[in-house]
Amino acid sequence: MRILKSSFAVVERRAEHAVKFFYSHLFWHNPEVRDLFPASFEDMERQRDRLFAALTHVIAHLENETLVPYLRDLGRDHRKFLAGPQHYAAVGTSLIAALAETSGEAWTPLVEKAWTEAYQVIADTMMAGAATSEDPPWWDAEVVRHLQYGEDIGVLTLRPHAPFRHLPGQYTSVSSARVPTTWRTYSIGNAPRPDGSLDLHVSRIERGRLSTVLVRESRPGDMLRLGAAGGQLAFRREGRPVSFIAAGTGWAPVRAMLEDLAHHPPDQDVRLFVVARDAAHLYDRPLIDEYAAAFGWLSVTYITPAPGQHREQATDRLTTALCNRGLWPDQDVYLSGPPLFIQETACLLEDLGAHPGRIFHDSVPATGKGDGPNGRPLGFGEWFLNRPSPHWHNPSGRAPRP
Ligand SMILES: Cc1cc2nc3c(=O)[nH]c(=O)nc-3n(C[C@H](O)[C@H](O)[C@H](O)COP(=O)(O)OP(=O)(O)OC[C@H]3O[C@@H](n4cnc5c(N)ncnc54)[C@H](O)[C@@H]3O)c2cc1C
Ligand code: HEM
Repeated sequence: MRILKSSFAVVERRAEHAVKFFYSHLFWHNPEVRDLFPASFEDMERQRDRLFAALTHVIAHLENETLVPYLRDLGRDHRKFLAGPQHYAAVGTSLIAALAETSGEAWTPLVEKAWTEAYQVIADTMMAGAATSEDPPWWDAEVVRHLQYGEDIGVLTLRPHAPFRHLPGQYTSVSSARVPTTWRTYSIGNAPRPDGSLDLHVSRIERGRLSTVLVRESRPGDMLRLGAAGGQLAFRREGRPVSFIAAGTGWAPVRAMLEDLAHHPPDQDVRLFVVARDAAHLYDRPLIDEYAAAFGWLSVTYITPAPGQHREQATDRLTTALCNRGLWPDQDVYLSGPPLFIQETACLLEDLGAHPGRIFHDSVPATGKGDGPNGRPLGFGEWFLNRPSPHWHNPSGRAPRP
């Protein structure tokens, strides 16, 4: 373990070089493997980050009991990428070659032996997860309804062709034949239904590959592919008062949790803050108002720019609302929305006294590189102005079994 950790520290310093070498080696020696990966250069860049994020996670958790279930689920989920046993050997060979190339003099026979054995354990655990899973590699799901709100929001109702288990608050990964090998995650906007249908609330990103297809092009009758449900945003019945803070289509998982609470009412009060940059982003307001009227335990605050005002104003309004509503040290807080919204709001809440261990959200990507000016992460105001935010991975976000 010690050998691996200190060897990885050397490689990490030259991570970019290592990953470039790895993919060049992999695709040069196994050209057929290239077709399993996204065609776009940008997605390959992302994949580089994910590979290293996964390796970092594995090395950091070598002695941790969560590692085996994480790897088994990762292997189960890799079936949707069409990764077979033969590919694991190829990936292992290229990974060892890349580590050797990057390590220079630090690469000794002992180090090579440690990495080879560790990779074998990782690959065996992933392949065992793939081989023993009772789930299909992916779920074919038919679009049965498509509602459009404004130009850029679509709510799609899907009917998976095989039973699809999920918990309120979880997400699924989605792929469309219109953009092959491109998988993106979307929260499921409903609690499990008797007919098994699922809603996805999709906000179109400018030049976004899958979101554009889903919002602008998909129609009833189209088929999509879904990966197993995942994510940690499940409601915790801890008896403490609860605040949900949802921005944009971040409302989807909150809606799923509230639907569940409507059937199994909570003992505690629930505050809901809905942040929207314009009217289209308040697409579910009729339902939210209905819930607020029906359930005494629920109070709702809408945070939008005043009519005629710039949407940046909602940023200030959110800050003011969170400061005024107070009681944060006692609250369980659930945040949902774009990664930078989550990061900024979590910081603000901590400043207001919220307990960091009681702020729940899905994992957000590292902002080391950032998309903001001079490479820094975008601020909340910039996010609100709809500037790009980094795509994110979820290496530690193992799915609880629904
Ligand atoms: C756990 C999880 C749950 C999610 N749930 C939802 C959901 O319920 N609804 C939903 O609409 N989305 C959700 N997303 C985001 C979604 O997965 C995609 O990232 C998003 O739809 C963009 O994918 P794309 O293929 O259209 O864009 P890409 O082709 O990946 O991106 C195109 C360009 O846009 C940039 N970009 C990426 N994200 C943004 C952004 N937010 N704003 C501006 N520019 C951006 C990229 O850097 C790139 O340059 C979720 C993400 C995660 C990780
Ligand atoms: C054994 C070690 C491996 C590890 C630790 C690993 C890790 C990961 C991780 C963390 C992701 C991102 C997951 C996601 O977005 O859902 C990923 C994606 C992917 N992996 Fe692996 N993987 C391994 C082996 C393989 C193999 C053997 C193949 C097959 C060639 C493969 C092909 C892919 C593909 C095609 C993607 C999706 C790329 C994308 O969407 O951009 N992986 N991998």
